[in-house]
Amino acid sequence: MTQNRSYRHWSPYEKTQLARAGLSHLLETVSDNTPVEYLTNEVSFDGWQAHVTPAVLIPRVETEELVELIFQSLKKTLLTSTQPLTIVDVGTGSGVIGLSLWRRAQGLPEVTGKTAFHLLDISPTALTIVKENSSRLTAQVAILESDLLSAWPRQTKIDFLIANLPYIPSARIATLPLAVKDFEPNLALDGGSTGMSLITELLEQALPVVTSQAEIWLEIDETHTLTQLEQTRPEYRYQLFQDSFGKNRFVKAQKI
Ligand SMILES: C[S@@+](CC[C@H](N)C(=O)[O-])C[C@H]1O[C@@H](n2cnc3c(N)ncnc32)[C@H](O)[C@@H]1O
Repeated sequence: MTQNRSYRHWSPYEKTQLARAGLSHLLETVSDNTPVEYLTNEVSFDGWQAHVTPAVLIPRVETEELVELIFQSLKKTLLTSTQPLTIVDVGTGSGVIGLSLWRRAQGLPEVTGKTAFHLLDISPTALTIVKENSSRLTAQVAILESDLLSAWPRQTKIDFLIANLPYIPSARIATLPLAVKDFEPNLALDGGSTGMSLITELLEQALPVVTSQAEIWLEIDETHTLTQLEQTRPEYRYQLFQDSFGKNRFVKAQKI
């Protein structure tokens, strides 16, 4: 009798990741498209190992580029600033952006007491992952459940506001690879009809709570344009950055 078993094709990368995690037996038992990162519950990001589960987006390599861009700017500001800086990562997911910046900042001279990192997400389950990752790094960061900045104390002004919010236009979700649309949380992907709903809402909420010199760093969809942002939120000037794949991917916004 022949058995009808469907086998998954595993890439060499996936096989290596499973072997490293002592999970090679899954090569025989997992036949669906579960991303390997949700099997090992580990992702290498910016030089450290982050814990991930299906409650959070699997951090992307482009986001490491965002961390690098922000850090270069943060470093300059830290070296010249006499005041402590408040750094807020909204939609932190597994916490990789805020925690990587915290980790990098520890390598700078005399940074102690000059930074306060805050990691915010609307998802309580995601925040349990942030706590785990924060413990791994013994990071001194504050973690807050918040719908964008709604739980943020108005009187505390923000110097660096960072957000990799869901930015995929809703209609495109159905066309994403199975491993993304069937396994990653929709809450981390769907950015509304143009993909910009949460981004423009955040920019509005940020106006009264960021300092006049604040930098707002955003990850965006490749289809987004500065014109869209300028028309929707003309209170800021914007600078666009491409990722290493040559796609429009990051924006720096500053109040005019
Ligand atoms: C694209 S994921 C990014 C995760 C992480 N920052 C990264 O770069 O890998 C977006 C995150 O935004 C969170 N999110 C969605 N809507 C939100 C909202 N209204 N307020 C705060 N966070 C939100 C999701 O829970 C998810 O963790």
